[in-house]
Amino acid sequence: MNAVLRPLKIVIVGHVDHGKSTLVGRLLHETGSLPDGKVETLRAVCDKRGMPFEWAFVMDALQAERDQGITIDTSQIPFKTALRPYVIIDAPGHKEFLKNMVTGAASAEAAVLVIDALEGVQEQSRRHGYLLHLLGLRQLAVVVNKMDAVEFSQARFDEVSAEIRAYLAEIGVTPTEIIPIAARHGDNMVTRSEQTPWYKGPTVVQALDGFQPAAEATDLPLRFPVQDIYKFDHRRIVAGRIESGRLKVGDRLLFSPSGKTARVASIESWNAPAQSVAVAGQSVGVTLDEQIFIERGQIASLLEQPPMGSDLFRARLFWLGRAPLAEGRRYKLKLATAEHIVAVEKVERIIDVTDLATAEGRTVERNAVAEVLLRAAGPVALDPFTDNPRTGRFVLVDQYDIVGGGVISMDGLPDSRCTPSVVGQDLTAVQHKVTPQSRAAANRHRGGVIWLTGLSGAGKSSISMEVERRLFHRGFQVFTLDGDNIRQGLNADLGFGPEDRAENIRRIGEVANLFVQAGMVVITSFISPYRADRDRARAANPTSFHEVWVKAGVEECKRRDPKGLYAKAVAGAIPEFTGISAPYEEPLHAELVLDTEKLSLEEAVDRLIRYIERDMQREPGVDMESRPDASI
Ligand code: ADX
Repeated sequence: MNAVLRPLKIVIVGHVDHGKSTLVGRLLHETGSLPDGKVETLRAVCDKRGMPFEWAFVMDALQAERDQGITIDTSQIPFKTALRPYVIIDAPGHKEFLKNMVTGAASAEAAVLVIDALEGVQEQSRRHGYLLHLLGLRQLAVVVNKMDAVEFSQARFDEVSAEIRAYLAEIGVTPTEIIPIAARHGDNMVTRSEQTPWYKGPTVVQALDGFQPAAEATDLPLRFPVQDIYKFDHRRIVAGRIESGRLKVGDRLLFSPSGKTARVASIESWNAPAQSVAVAGQSVGVTLDEQIFIERGQIASLLEQPPMGSDLFRARLFWLGRAPLAEGRRYKLKLATAEHIVAVEKVERIIDVTDLATAEGRTVERNAVAEVLLRAAGPVALDPFTDNPRTGRFVLVDQYDIVGGGVISMDGLPDSRCTPSVVGQDLTAVQHKVTPQSRAAANRHRGGVIWLTGLSGAGKSSISMEVERRLFHRGFQVFTLDGDNIRQGLNADLGFGPEDRAENIRRIGEVANLFVQAGMVVITSFISPYRADRDRARAANPTSFHEVWVKAGVEECKRRDPKGLYAKAVAGAIPEFTGISAPYEEPLHAELVLDTEKLSLEEAVDRLIRYIERDMQREPGVDMESRPDASI
């Protein structure tokens, strides 16, 4: 039972000239939410000046009072219906408003879009409609205002309704109601108007009362981001703030994205005795029934309601950086307690906050709002903002500055959930007694992965085998893993569909990792056409992974066709052939590019050898930092 109802937050958008202020003024009046005598005073002033009274003056008066610091803050206008209290969050178009909304700092639960019956759907209405999409608002009432100016014509109303419905459908928004009104006269605001006998739907107030309030944080699925792990005597306490949902002793928790699971053994809170249940908003420490490896940044959920886990996600963000946000650039993303490095894969749309105009481009200037695709090196545990505001928003950091904030949307992307990892449950890593430093000292070079990627025929195998030969003669511990070879043994069970290629690359990433731990330089020579697969291989080996793009265009590779495969593929004899009937995603951040259309084999080999020597052949013991987990 809710003793005091929380106000429902609504936003009213629309062109000023379409009667937004009139609607708000009238709404406050009709619901008895204005200070006593306010309207009478304004009417008297108008009479004295010989001008007609307008409901919009109410808003102007409130605004003037606010400016003088007298009454309510018009950025949060409260009113009440018989059902519940409301707060109108101020008109968009303001930078601050957009910043707060886009970053999720303030969020409306429903919206009203005002359209002029005479003018119909204009560019401005479209922009405001788009704003609703941007804010992820799912509950929307459209009011077609100034029906008195079109003689309350049903035909005109139907026309405008069809127009707005069609536009909103394009951006994935479905209005809950479309209401014909004349805000100035109060038609269909609180009571049904006699002027529109053909209209059977709700009044504005009924439509507002029909909106569903957003779920309370405690009613959402459990999200408990790990802030820290404390060691007390023999116990380890996982500490953090419960952002949503609830947890109790005995619950099986899933830590994402690591996939580790364990049961809650006890809940400890800072200044209170141990408890058996904890809810959203509380900072607690939990002990677990198993000693599993957990780190800050993981998000605990119940096993049955995991967050999404994805390395690719869409974000709507507000950019604050002095330097523009740019496609291909990397930033640090902070989401709850986690930090991830993300690259801007694509700027999908840029929105000018002054007039809400949208544009395309590859960079986003300060104070603009943009929709972007972000890619992380590995899976990020997250929720779409509309599902869970707490784990659906983030900030971006460049060096030490916050340069942007935004919310996550998975629209159009797969709903992949974090899952418990099956590995490692009954396994314990054994420590090696030979350290990476001693291996490096013995070899006189460090280990590392030289990951060649490029089309078939680009020259990967020729380059890698020659580099292997020359480095070997210079005393390197070096070995090449080549697609055509490995696919006849270890990976003989794999084909060329996207999943099989992903598994091919996953295994090679793991094998390469073993070679690095053994202190060796490993050159891998695989098309590895998918960026995500290569990024995963990098994530398995972050400090010693070097992506080398062996670059040659499809036309050139077709011309070379060393194995006669392009001819066959073009003739349709090889399905899913990279470059012909399957994609190749070019590297965005290769450490080295060897353009074999411009370089001779000899030159390409020289360049790669110089790169490897520079990176890996340092004096043993000097700057030979080791991978912290190299001995696991
Ligand atoms: S990857 O895409 O999974 O990285 P990988 O490098 O292992 O491919 O294997 C590519 C080699 O397999 C090519 O050099 C070619 O000889 C052979 N091959 C056979 N079928 C295909 C195909 N459909 N697409 C690409 N390469 C193919």
